[in-house]
Amino acid sequence: KELEVGIDKIGLYVPKYYIDMKELATYRGVDPNKWTIGIGQEQMAVPTLASDVVALAANAANQIITEEDKGLIDQVIVGTESGVDHSKSIATFVHGLLEINPFAKAFEIKQACYGATAALQLACDYVRLRPERKVLVIATDISRYGLDTSGEPTQGAGAIAMLVSANPKILTIRQESFMHTNHQFDFWRPNDSEYAMVDGHFSTKLYQDEFVKVLEHVEAMNPSLLERIEAMTFHLPFTKMGLKALNAYEEAKGSHPIIDKWRSHYDASRVLNRRVGNIYTGSLFLSLISLLAKDDTLSAGETIGLFSYGSGAVSELLIGQLQPDYRQYVNSEEIEQHLDRRDALTVEQYETIFLEKQLVNDGQSAPLTADEVGFYFAGITDYKRQYHYQA
Ligand code: CAA
Repeated sequence: KELEVGIDKIGLYVPKYYIDMKELATYRGVDPNKWTIGIGQEQMAVPTLASDVVALAANAANQIITEEDKGLIDQVIVGTESGVDHSKSIATFVHGLLEINPFAKAFEIKQACYGATAALQLACDYVRLRPERKVLVIATDISRYGLDTSGEPTQGAGAIAMLVSANPKILTIRQESFMHTNHQFDFWRPNDSEYAMVDGHFSTKLYQDEFVKVLEHVEAMNPSLLERIEAMTFHLPFTKMGLKALNAYEEAKGSHPIIDKWRSHYDASRVLNRRVGNIYTGSLFLSLISLLAKDDTLSAGETIGLFSYGSGAVSELLIGQLQPDYRQYVNSEEIEQHLDRRDALTVEQYETIFLEKQLVNDGQSAPLTADEVGFYFAGITDYKRQYHYQA
């Protein structure tokens, strides 16, 4: 029997502020229904300079790991496409801030929104070899297309932390997975550009094509597997995207009861994403948390599909199995409280925060203040990013 490894703990951290999509749409002269229904977003997380990707990652991880875990963690792996340095990984910052056992390694993985999926797979493979040890995986990103651009309603910010162990309490991840790579320019972020480059309609088309290709590959490799998947979760750049993928698969295959079953679970899997926006590497796992917290019809033992898509483009379908007491470890009320603690911004406040440029002169920046309790980015001294903890 395959040793069971997977997600033992999972935590979410989003910034203190958000903007209401109806308010922003009205201000932009767009019919709000286009964004709430056509794209499927209600609120969008807005990060200040102090809640950068390192702070988001450290705060997400801090919520789930104990002192005992810190001694058992052999690796800290961060999946991100919003790195703060070409060389130094976000994982080393987090390792230091959380005071994780020094005899561990820490590094970053990049491939657009797919990076954290590679990190999770790597973590699971490691724990299969060393079942007594643990790996901390974090997805952290800030998505920026620019004010008044077509990508604007699909921005967001946040981090997801996962502790990978043997005999996990939430979801086992199978060794068998299904992947596909296709070198394309649908969405990319040149090093010297503040904003993402995107060929929007091509990107949504490519996503759908890749989903169909991966599922056709599953059909060829393990014919009965798809019908055993009770619910399918997706990378959700915006929450209409998974539905578009399901429609594309139906168009390619014809109607099938399994597609209707996946549709029946879909709304639960996007509740949280509707309130946060696109968090790139974390979006798939935000959707997983959403499904586990909000879908009362699921039962332990059932199989969950996780479709990861990273522009450029790499896709992979992971297969998970719900563990007996998973509900106890994904606390719906705590998640709601975390989102409800946020303050709404006016459009004017959102634009001011969005355009705030760090005052970086010769590697120095003005000191920053914390938005709330937790880790925050405090500014740059001698080209070195400084992080503090607000008690
Ligand atoms: N009421 C209801 N629905 C309406 C509406 C109204 N008044 N007006 C328009 N709509 C619908 C449209 O019919 C459309 O729905 P369908 O796609 O189902 O037909 C939807 O609203 C969006 O309309 P448009 O396509 O006209 O929107 P747009 O041209 O402004 O751009 C976008 C949408 C391409 C997603 C753009 O926001 C974008 O480029 N976003 C960034 C790229 C992105 O997220 N791509 C996703 C795939 S790539 C990926 O997954 C990686 C990643 O994370 C970036």
